[in-house]
Amino acid sequence: MPVALLLLLLLPGKILLLVPFAPTSLPWEPVCVCAAVCPGVAASTQVCSYQDVLEHLNLTADSSAFRLTRPVLDHRRPTVVQLDIILSAILAVTEKTQTFIPFVWTLMTWTNERISWDPERFCGIRELSVPKSLLWKPDLFIYEMIHKHETATTPYYFMSYNGNVYSEQVMKLVSTCQMDLHKFPFDTQRCNITVGSAIHCGECVCLHFSPLTLRRSRVFLLHSVKEMRFIPFSNSTRATQFSREVMLTQGDWDFLQLMVTSRNFSFKDQQWEQIIYTFTMKRRPLLHIINFLLPVLFFLFLDLASFFISDHRGEKLGFKVTVLLAMSVLLLILNDILPSTSNKTPLIATYCIVIFGLMLLSLLEAILVTYLVDLAPPESVGLKEDKQEEAKADAWDGEDRQTSSSSVCRVTTCETEQELLPMAEQVIGADSPESRVTLLILEELRKLQNAVKEQLSGREEGRKCLQWASRINKAFFIFYLAAVSLFLSFIFIEWMR
Ligand SMILES: *[C@@H]1O[C@H](CO)[C@@H](O)[C@H](O)[C@H]1NC(C)=O
Ligand SMILES: *[C@@H]1O[C@H](CO)[C@@H](O)[C@H](O)[C@H]1NC(C)=O
Ligand SMILES: *[C@@H]1O[C@H](CO)[C@@H](O)[C@H](O)[C@H]1NC(C)=O
Ligand SMILES: *[C@@H]1O[C@H](CO)[C@@H](O)[C@H](O)[C@H]1NC(C)=O
Repeated sequence: MPVALLLLLLLPGKILLLVPFAPTSLPWEPVCVCAAVCPGVAASTQVCSYQDVLEHLNLTADSSAFRLTRPVLDHRRPTVVQLDIILSAILAVTEKTQTFIPFVWTLMTWTNERISWDPERFCGIRELSVPKSLLWKPDLFIYEMIHKHETATTPYYFMSYNGNVYSEQVMKLVSTCQMDLHKFPFDTQRCNITVGSAIHCGECVCLHFSPLTLRRSRVFLLHSVKEMRFIPFSNSTRATQFSREVMLTQGDWDFLQLMVTSRNFSFKDQQWEQIIYTFTMKRRPLLHIINFLLPVLFFLFLDLASFFISDHRGEKLGFKVTVLLAMSVLLLILNDILPSTSNKTPLIATYCIVIFGLMLLSLLEAILVTYLVDLAPPESVGLKEDKQEEAKADAWDGEDRQTSSSSVCRVTTCETEQELLPMAEQVIGADSPESRVTLLILEELRKLQNAVKEQLSGREEGRKCLQWASRINKAFFIFYLAAVSLFLSFIFIEWMR
């Protein structure tokens, strides 16, 4: 069997693999693998050459009968093309340009009705190889192909005594494939390769319009010709199994399945038979996780950790801005991977933009808190130190008050209002020079009292601001934590579904 031979040459050490290639259901009869001539059959005296067969067939370099037209003796008979496509490598899958580049083996066989000879007459020669240019070949058309394919293939066809012609090709297909990147990088892609004939239809209907009755144009069906039929050679199970066995490289993809379906494609009364090969593969996400998802997560944790940096020296702001900048650099990478148009927003874009938004929100909150802290007068910032100083001052005051009557009280102990005012009323009643002096002193004291009050209220405000800042900080931290954990669990569930 020639194809088996070819595969043998291609894959030394994988001979077992050929076993499924030779089932009884093959379109060609299993023949001897011993260089096309079986010793037992060959008569001992007779000597034959391949050229004898060609001469018998009248097949020469310029015989056009074999080359020009579809090789059937009755033009209404269809040429049946049996086809097998086996995936042997996944060379590239580019999301940005939506291209899928597989490396495939194409095995094809059809019948050339002009070829037939009796092996007995030619020392048992059952098959021979001829240059491709000598024989007609089906116009295999791949609908998704966007580049001329590059092939590295044998320059020969094999033909057998009963008219079957076998062709074998290795192809690098550059095909377009619409990818769904919703779950990137945990996605599974399905790419179709549709194979058919471009001009030979499966059912060509020739219609004849009668010119005499224009109003009700009568349509006569003249004839209907079946020109070419495409039949898949292996079913899905076998194609998948073969592909697994011959797979050379898969890149960062896991090949899952090769599904073979056939369909009839109709257009303007014509019908074409097509075979659709659907390649299913799953992305290996590890690189994207390490390269992208984890760094973003780390930045998010850094941003969370920055809540424990103190508010009043501007370090927190600087830190958060740096994290945000780092995050935007990562967003640039994403820009390189994802195509700008996608039917469904990729989850990874949602992931990035929501995390970016959360970080932005936390930066805004840090700005607000810093503003509130700045509003407070500087001495009320370090409240604890202040209180200690006050306590010391109080102790000193207590001793002082006994000796000096003019030092009324320390501001913070605040008996001032209640004690001073009744005294003033008593003094105002008298009209002596001493009382004037006392009045002046009282006036001074009142000014002093006002100043102290003002300072006190300022301090009170500052304290309020600080309280608000710490409340906002706490509330926002809880909100941030909740939002982050909710969002992350939602997005990972969605990703893994
Ligand atoms: C080849 O051509 C010869 C005449 O040139 C003819 O007699 C013979 O039948 C042809 N053979 C075939 C297989 O057509
Ligand atoms: C691929 O082919 C299958 C039929 O086998 C079809 O259902 C599916 O829509 C096709 N996919 C694309 C992207 O054309
Ligand atoms: C596919 O083909 C193999 C061998 O020809 C056969 O054993 C198997 O049952 C087939 N599978 C289906 C689903 O037809
Ligand atoms: C396509 O049409 C042919 C007849 O022209 C028929 O034998 C075949 O079953 C059809 N295939 C499908 C998938 O419908």
